[in-house]
Amino acid sequence: MSAAATLVDRIRAGGDVPRHVAVIMDGNGRWAQERHLPRPVGHREGMKAVREAVEGCIAAGVDVLTLFAFSEENWNRPPVEIGALMSLLEEYIGREAAELRSNGVEAHVLGDLSRLNPKAREAVERLLAQTSGGTKLRLNLAISYSSRAEIAHAARRLAEDVLQGRLALEDVDEDAVSVRLYTAGLPDPDLLVRTSGEQRISNFLLWQLAYTELYITPVLWPDFTRQNLFEAILDYQGRERRFGRVTA
Ligand code: FPP
Repeated sequence: MSAAATLVDRIRAGGDVPRHVAVIMDGNGRWAQERHLPRPVGHREGMKAVREAVEGCIAAGVDVLTLFAFSEENWNRPPVEIGALMSLLEEYIGREAAELRSNGVEAHVLGDLSRLNPKAREAVERLLAQTSGGTKLRLNLAISYSSRAEIAHAARRLAEDVLQGRLALEDVDEDAVSVRLYTAGLPDPDLLVRTSGEQRISNFLLWQLAYTELYITPVLWPDFTRQNLFEAILDYQGRERRFGRVTA
């Protein structure tokens, strides 16, 4: 039996598999720099780790995987790097969409797609259409995503609904905010994995991560394997989640 298969058995025996895993895929640039390669080579290598994470989540029985692929702040990177990331997104979809579909993955996007170039946007829309109805894993790709923008947008929609009389002021509560976020209807992440050792949230799912367990690994994203994911899940299974309460 492979080491990864053994870890899956341990996860399954451990019982409490996280329903929702979120990942900040960090370290592509450093991975490339360490090898004296251009940064986009690191992003390309990072695509393999995306596959590892998706397949690993399916094997472990995770329901939702949210990957931070491109932040709104990333639009400030050099145009060459942005171009490379957009091309990689198209390439990823071209290469993987059929397999994602056959593996029962349903893809969604969190973020402002209007800023993508038309080709990248069409590719994303094709992916969403092609994988619609998948029941094994919901894959959220956070693209052109900013959590503060997401919350501000939800606040604006709430204000509009109150102004138009569709919502009473006294009904503005946590649920009213949650249902106006990109993640409406989904459980909050149980586990957040961040690679490359950085100890930051970086404007990712600020509302949704309120009680999420954090797992920071020094592994750079291109080196991240399903085995690393299983180790993170096993670590999570050893945590005591109190949600602000005291131990029973
Ligand atoms: C962070 O590393 C990573 C990104 C900004 C892009 C993530 C993209 C991929 C993994 C490839 C494509 C993904 C999909 C879903 C097709 P960084 O560049 O900030 O690394 P550094 O901190 O070492 O510079």
